[in-house]
Amino acid sequence: MNSLRRPLIAGNWKMYLDLASSVSLAKSVAAGLPADAPEVMVATPFTALAVVGEALKGTKVKLAAQDCYWEKEGAFTGQVSAFQLKDAGCQGVLIGHSERRQFFGETDETVKKKLTAALENGLLPIVCVGETLAEREDGRTFKVLETQLTGALSGFGPSQLATLVIAYEPVWAIGTGKTATPAQAQEAHLFIRKTCQRLHGDGFAAGLRILYGGSVKPDNVDSLMSEPDLDGALVGGASLKADSFLRIVKFSAAVAK
Ligand code: 13P
Repeated sequence: MNSLRRPLIAGNWKMYLDLASSVSLAKSVAAGLPADAPEVMVATPFTALAVVGEALKGTKVKLAAQDCYWEKEGAFTGQVSAFQLKDAGCQGVLIGHSERRQFFGETDETVKKKLTAALENGLLPIVCVGETLAEREDGRTFKVLETQLTGALSGFGPSQLATLVIAYEPVWAIGTGKTATPAQAQEAHLFIRKTCQRLHGDGFAAGLRILYGGSVKPDNVDSLMSEPDLDGALVGGASLKADSFLRIVKFSAAVAK
């Protein structure tokens, strides 16, 4: 982490938890936040947004969705628009998660459309990028990241992207217990920052928050967060229990000042 950028710890609840457990988890997280907490966000299933939003009212925990559609409204059965998410009380939205790319046909083109809609509706977008194991083993990690970033971020001006957060989530580390080493994560984060610098300039790149995701747990968060270009975490499994998520929120990073 770098003291210029405020860390963000986001939980991605994926397709887990019923409504009662969602509300109870949200309340426990909010109640357990330390006074000096980083920014904290939880991305719930669509069905839980309203009740979790209600439970989080007046707290510092922000509400996010896990996906959005780019049109405002229309005959698009099964879709939920960025406009509707904002109306439901969301402050943020995940875009282009690798599970959506792998299983639901998400492309760099749809990521860009969703990013545009999120920004137009005042949602903080967390755009996810990351390589598969085969791509890493083929030496294509940087190429994949560059293509995903260019696909999503070109065509905007840096001021339009002021709230943008990028999440680096190597697909091979998601839900596998195989975390990227701090050095592997730092190498990818630095590459992402340099690519964003080339696309949108020094000031933009210096202020851009880049989260790491992929088997982040209480016992590895501190070493990950000690790397200078890691600005937070996007947490799956360990965000489903208040105690493990709160331990991650309370990470202690050795920061070089
Ligand atoms: P895990 O923390 O369960 O590996 O999931 C990471 C993730 O996909 C967060 O979006």
